[in-house]
Amino acid sequence: MTAPKKLFVKTYGCQMNVYDSERMAEALGAKGYVTTDVVEDADMVLLNTCHIREKASEKLYSDLGRLRGLKAVKPGMKVGVAGCVAQAEGEEILRRSSVVDLVVGPQAYHRLPEMVEAEGRLVDTEFPVEDKFTLLPERKALRGPTAFLTVQEGCDKFCAFCVVPYTRGAEVSRPVARLLEEARGLVAQGVREITLLGQNVNAYHGEGPGGVWSLARLVREMADIPGLERLRYTTSHPNDMDEDLIAAHGEVPQLMPYLHLPVQSGSDRILKAMNRKHTADAYLRLIGRIRAARPDILLSSDFIVGFPGETDADFQATMDLIRTVGFGAAFSFKYSARPGTPAAEKTPVPGDIADARLQELQALITAQQRAAQEAMVGREVTVLYEKPGRLPGQMVGKSDHLHAVHVHDPEGRIGDLVRVSVSASSSNSLAAEVLLRNA
Ligand code: SAH
Ligand code: SF4
Ligand code: F3S
Repeated sequence: MTAPKKLFVKTYGCQMNVYDSERMAEALGAKGYVTTDVVEDADMVLLNTCHIREKASEKLYSDLGRLRGLKAVKPGMKVGVAGCVAQAEGEEILRRSSVVDLVVGPQAYHRLPEMVEAEGRLVDTEFPVEDKFTLLPERKALRGPTAFLTVQEGCDKFCAFCVVPYTRGAEVSRPVARLLEEARGLVAQGVREITLLGQNVNAYHGEGPGGVWSLARLVREMADIPGLERLRYTTSHPNDMDEDLIAAHGEVPQLMPYLHLPVQSGSDRILKAMNRKHTADAYLRLIGRIRAARPDILLSSDFIVGFPGETDADFQATMDLIRTVGFGAAFSFKYSARPGTPAAEKTPVPGDIADARLQELQALITAQQRAAQEAMVGREVTVLYEKPGRLPGQMVGKSDHLHAVHVHDPEGRIGDLVRVSVSASSSNSLAAEVLLRNA
């Protein structure tokens, strides 16, 4: 028997890429590849890339530069570039870097196994008509009690700054039956928490029994899978938060009280220029309805500062919105002009101004995040253990509100759902004591 070939995968970008990397590793697993964490041992290196901001996409080329030396001493090693830079740049990647053998877009990676076996340098960035997921082997890799499940891909929103509609293509929802089958399969392997993924996950409209299903209906159905204790979904667009989904937050106990709902800006003028198709006030009213359904829900968001045309007053409107809502977490970014997007044509805000705004915004978010965490001290929460902690006898997991929690629990095992009492809050996590096992 020959030794198995080794695959090294590096993932950049969003959770959809994390999911895709797992599926690609599984697809190559069927061809005899086992994964390795040591790049020097790899027969195949796969870089699953992100194109969302310039910095993210330039990382690819610095990594490829580093691989050049390795490939010089290991000429048989194959290098593949997958993901959103692969889609956006295609053959250009082969021209810019001689170490690359394969370029495969996010909608074409079911063809990866045959590409790996073929000779020569290949590019596949097609958007095929078939569902790539059905052409992949069944999921069997098992890493822990939590899993991602892509239910929807692509985006039809065309925000003026964003490359996703171009790199991932139009919105496509996977059929209900396949998703339920995949979810049941994951649960059978010990998964207790599933995060449903989509670039615009709440625009889900998949074919199901009796017609087209919404995300709310899918969530309600998945919640009935025995052994599936927790459900989350990300990322949502405010305009696709329908009343049934909001109601589900109050009615479905498995649906966790945490919602990532990007708003990007608090200025109506900028929201309009961004093509977000809602106002700041509409967002605030939406938050009000969500909180009415689930008062303890923790909200998170994405913000862009320094979008072309953003004035100090626009920026202050964003700060006001943040103060009004009170977020439990948020990601914030300095605007990055992306080739091919409408906003890239406009005059940018000077870099130092954007930097200063980003700092100010992040300081506010950090303060809110700390406050939300500190508010948990003294409360009872449920934690799903994901891994052992650094200290002996310690376990680490996530609470319902997605806080990282460290628990001293020598009897604890990965996958346990434990009721704990929160005793302290540090910068990025909570500490807690066990109250009840098998919560
Ligand atoms: N589909 C999601 C997330 C898209 S990408 C949504 O609609 O919100 C994740 C985040 O990256 C975005 O929410 C946005 O805040 C940020 N982002 C996207 N394009 C960007 C750009 N050109 N410059 C800076 N940040 C950007
Ligand atoms: Fe990008 Fe906007 Fe689509 Fe989100 S909704 S993926 S920000 S175009
Ligand atoms: Fe990046 Fe593509 Fe995700 S651009 S954020 S990897 S959809």
